[in-house]
Amino acid sequence: MKGRIVRGSISTGVEVKLDPQYTVEDVKVGNFAVIEGRKYRYFSLVSDVKIESTNPAMLVDSFEDEDELAREIIVGDSIFGNISLNPMLMADKEQVGETRAVRTIPPHSSPVRTATDEDVAHVFGSPDNKVFFSMGTPLEMDSPVCVNLPKLVERCSGIFGKAGTGKTFLTRLALAGITKSQAAVNLIFDAHNEYGWEATKEEDRGDGVLQESHVKGLKQLFPSRVVIFTLDPESSRRRGAKFDHEINLAHSQITPEDVLLLQSQLNLNSTATETMHLLSGKMGAEHWFGLLAEMAAEEMKDYAEEHGLHLGALQALQRKLKRVYDLPFMKDKIPFDAVDKIMQYLNAGKHVVIEFGSTQLLGYMMVTNILTKRIHAEYVRRMEKYQATRENKPPHLVISIEEAHRFLSPELARDTIFATIAREMRKFNVTLLLVDQRTSGIDSEVMSQIGTKIACKLDDESDVNALLTGVHDAKNLRNILYSLDSKQQALILGHAVPMPVVIKTRNYDAQFYNEIVETNYQENDKAFNEMVNDMYNDDEEI
Ligand SMILES: Nc1ncnc2c1ncn2[C@@H]1O[C@H](COP(=O)(O)OP(=O)(O)O)[C@@H](O)[C@H]1O
Ligand SMILES: [Mg+2]
Repeated sequence: MKGRIVRGSISTGVEVKLDPQYTVEDVKVGNFAVIEGRKYRYFSLVSDVKIESTNPAMLVDSFEDEDELAREIIVGDSIFGNISLNPMLMADKEQVGETRAVRTIPPHSSPVRTATDEDVAHVFGSPDNKVFFSMGTPLEMDSPVCVNLPKLVERCSGIFGKAGTGKTFLTRLALAGITKSQAAVNLIFDAHNEYGWEATKEEDRGDGVLQESHVKGLKQLFPSRVVIFTLDPESSRRRGAKFDHEINLAHSQITPEDVLLLQSQLNLNSTATETMHLLSGKMGAEHWFGLLAEMAAEEMKDYAEEHGLHLGALQALQRKLKRVYDLPFMKDKIPFDAVDKIMQYLNAGKHVVIEFGSTQLLGYMMVTNILTKRIHAEYVRRMEKYQATRENKPPHLVISIEEAHRFLSPELARDTIFATIAREMRKFNVTLLLVDQRTSGIDSEVMSQIGTKIACKLDDESDVNALLTGVHDAKNLRNILYSLDSKQQALILGHAVPMPVVIKTRNYDAQFYNEIVETNYQENDKAFNEMVNDMYNDDEEI
């Protein structure tokens, strides 16, 4: 594409008259374009494409039937494509290097062109798997678009889009990037068993028939850096998925607040809430849950009488909590505390994936909430200690959750641990990576705390609005969001990229595995030695 600036302002962006040899059909919303001003080069996104004429009356005539030559003579230069551009960054043309936010606009008649590979590298950096990590390419280009990983993890981030648009794949890429660079340690609540070990993907063979294939999980790419905990070992075995530890929760770990998060799933009313708090007060926060589980009918009657509680309310609460007692990982007593083990791994710089197997939403929400609460508390403690002693700083932690809106809905958000983490920003060295298909279900205050947003196609207006709350230039980005393909395209905006950009998501395939797998021989040797040691120990035991 080539053209010239005809009009513009800082607030509305600039308009470009497309050179006559190009047609409007060649210019897509979201394309990356460069304006060559006299002093500055401006990096921009196409936000709109229109047909215009110097003589508006001509627009209503049809020239379809004229032959090529006649059309050229009659229409000539008077009907043309008009491209709206949003300059987002500028760079001094003399001094190569730093780009900065746009504070001027290019003069009239400045030439406009499609971006080149050098432009993309200038703005987004060149991939080095340490700071700059390639997430894809601009539309219709092959040069890598990088996110800045330390900036990505520095604040909360979110990967959004409706079902089937490629969120899980983008999340895999981002997690692999973080793991590779060690920009942070990951704690991943893997609701659908997609990140730890192998997962299946369905793909159109090209004739409408779906074909199943496998994609590698983090543990396969980074065997010595990733540890998998499972809540459902049976499911892992069935799927042939490896895991390192099993997690169980003890009755003593459940507080009334943990149960309250499940209010709507368990259909708890205010009486139930009150009863829980009363029980916890009387029996102790560590005992109420287990004691209530075991209470027989007669015992309950006596207890209610003795403590002036309403028997019906007690019975109803026990009935409603039965779904929680019955969760397979819920135990009276547990052999070890998973949180201690997880913390040991995180401190050693290992990444932890928690797999849920066939655990349903209720179990997922409860476990995710309880573990996060305790790990966060542990982080707060360690960070405070670090601030006092300047020793043993815990590594930056990124907690990834799927179905984020379940934990961050406006009704819940003020009270949940996740909202607390989002609000604290990076004070305690913990940030979130939210994965969700319903941005409108997430509390708007939390949405506004998200530093980097990676958005696949969203077509519900309320979701688009929620995504763009508080975003500068929302009007232009809205057009771009609506125009994304329904698969493997995304708009990235915020802290980790110097300017918003539309990408075709990098393929997560054999080539990617080759580019990312552990190449540090020392580390590979270490993993190998550990494996040999394990085998040796096994032999000894026999
Ligand atoms: N980066 C990618 N590399 C390879 N395949 C992809 C990629 N992104 C999307 N896909 C394809 O699109 C399908 C849906 O992507 P997925 O991430 O599972 O969607 P979502 O999590 O948004 O529902 C996948 O099964 C896969 O076939
Ligand atoms: Mg998914």
